Amino acid sequence: MSAVDLIIFGATGDLSARKLFPALFQLDAAGLLQDGLRIAAVGRQQQTVEAFRDELRLKMSRYMRKEMNAEVWHQFIERLDYLGADFTEPHAFRGLRGWLDDGRVSLFYLATPPSLFTTICEQLNDDRCLTGPCRIVLEKPIGESLETSSEVNETLGRFFAEQDIYRIDHYLGKETVQNLLVLRFANRFVNSQWDQSCIDHVQITVAEKVGIEGRWAYYDGVGQLRDMVQNHLMQLLCLVAMEPPNSLEAESIRDEKVKIVKALRPVDPATVKEHVVRGQYSQGVMNGQAVPGYLEEEGCATSASDTETFVAIKAYVDNWRWSGVPFYLRTGKRMPDKVTEIIIQYKALPHHIFGEGESAEPNRLIIRLQPNEGIEMSMVSKRQSLKDKLSLQTHTLNFDFRKDGDIDRIPDAYERLFLDAINGDPSLFVGREEIEESWRWCDRIIAACEQGDVGVSAYQAGSWGPSKSELLIDRDGRSWNV
Ligand code: BG6
Repeated sequence: MSAVDLIIFGATGDLSARKLFPALFQLDAAGLLQDGLRIAAVGRQQQTVEAFRDELRLKMSRYMRKEMNAEVWHQFIERLDYLGADFTEPHAFRGLRGWLDDGRVSLFYLATPPSLFTTICEQLNDDRCLTGPCRIVLEKPIGESLETSSEVNETLGRFFAEQDIYRIDHYLGKETVQNLLVLRFANRFVNSQWDQSCIDHVQITVAEKVGIEGRWAYYDGVGQLRDMVQNHLMQLLCLVAMEPPNSLEAESIRDEKVKIVKALRPVDPATVKEHVVRGQYSQGVMNGQAVPGYLEEEGCATSASDTETFVAIKAYVDNWRWSGVPFYLRTGKRMPDKVTEIIIQYKALPHHIFGEGESAEPNRLIIRLQPNEGIEMSMVSKRQSLKDKLSLQTHTLNFDFRKDGDIDRIPDAYERLFLDAINGDPSLFVGREEIEESWRWCDRIIAACEQGDVGVSAYQAGSWGPSKSELLIDRDGRSWNV
């Protein structure tokens, strides 16, 4: 394995303290970081490495569940340097050039606003930081439309080969999301019942309790469709719907995912109202506390905004396997619970033999991605009874990942993704075509909503979204799982 150095841009930002450094620290604690791996934290401020480390420790301790082990912390900070560089100044990375070692792989991690991606790449090139072997890892969003995402990808392509570009969708790093591949492709009985002949519909819900958390400036005008559907929900949909890849090589997986995105039926203005619901939270009460509406959030500079904080979509994958099977997608902020789950609803039996009132409820597979990670399958069995000879009842087979194996916690997505990026394994990162095809589909939904006059409907914070969302699925004689 090649020796790697990690260079994190945006190292003083929120994501770095909340996710990136804690993940690296956990990897170090588990003995999974290469010996000799160095980390350069790059930020705009000029400060000493000691000042940076002290502040980082303080911030990290707020986000980490357990107290940080002092010994591991000392080992960790031995790896850590700080480089102040104002990316907007020419030759900002001269200092970094001196730090890099062309005999090792430089892994650049851009945890910065996307508006800085181009400047950073150009500056790295100008200051000859790209002369040795290197890879780049980027945070979302990659653009805000098909057009802007192609621009970002074009820029990246000027400086890096596609196989060296690691686009993060942190959902792919979640253990339970990877488990979807195993569930589908390592279990014959699941795999053989996975199509329109057995499945009635699929639901994917990504509900969050939080609001926009002080991110008004970013979120307004972006909304839940671009922030969550284009990337996270799309990836989940692809993993549920894709054909078995030939191997676990990145190309193989990406090719299958792209086919699904391309098979998504475009939403058009004439029918958009039957397929898409948009909502925006108004004030409400959560856990006994009053919470503000979207328009009362900190940083809000307007009295009216058409940005959705909730979206529900009825989608179809027009291919042989999924013909006629609706995929109901739903995601929102300020929902009653944090729940990410996939429901596979099987079809009802074609013929009932157990007598009146003894209908066998159709099987339902619930894949809980977070929290309470696990898989539940509802099964029908006979009630133990002499009196009722063949009375039926539904039981749940419950597989709880937290009680599985010898792990005391489920690793954070960023731990997996860092490890893979360091080891040069891009299979859990997103390819250019997937991103651009996903934008193509989302752009059409956005345009159809505008032309078809789908505005935002208010829903109370702490509720499951506007009533139209219930209608979207009720109309088809179905209902959301929660
Ligand atoms: C991010 C979005 O990508 O994912 C946030 O920008 C969202 O708005 C977050 O809150 C949700 O991630 P998770 O891992 O908490 O489900």
